[in-house]
Amino acid sequence: MVTVAALYVLPEYRKEGLCRLILYYVNMVHAKRLRQLLNGTSQSTVDPSLLYMHADTEAYNVPTQKFMLRCGYKIVNYTNWFTIIPVERN
Ligand SMILES: CC(C)(COP(=O)(O)OP(=O)(O)OC[C@H]1O[C@@H](n2cnc3c(N)ncnc32)[C@H](O)[C@@H]1OP(=O)(O)O)[C@@H](O)C(=O)NCCC(=O)NCCS
Repeated sequence: MVTVAALYVLPEYRKEGLCRLILYYVNMVHAKRLRQLLNGTSQSTVDPSLLYMHADTEAYNVPTQKFMLRCGYKIVNYTNWFTIIPVERN
């Protein structure tokens, strides 16, 4: 699986196709590696999770969700994230 997150393009360069280019490049690299990995492998032995191209975004980040939808992704799940940090013990 390849996962992308925290995509960010400077405001003055947005809507010029930059992020789409990067996303497609990352996916092409993933597809190429998968092809090498799967070469000669029986389909039944392939872990399906390897095949996913996945992205995370905060729920409030609607621009990124719209961008991902335009790039061919679909929303499959909503998840709550918790930030957990270690607490110092005295
Ligand atoms: C979302 C973001 C990464 C998109 O980058 P970008 O380089 O402007 O995107 P692209 O130009 O490659 O756009 C690709 C497609 O998505 C669409 N798109 C991009 N931003 C969009 C938006 N805000 N609303 C609707 N569609 C959008 C484009 O119109 C284009 O569609 P089309 O060519 O099929 O018509 C950029 O707007 C950004 O950095 N936003 C802030 C994200 C942020 O807050 N990140 C913090 C950490 S998550």
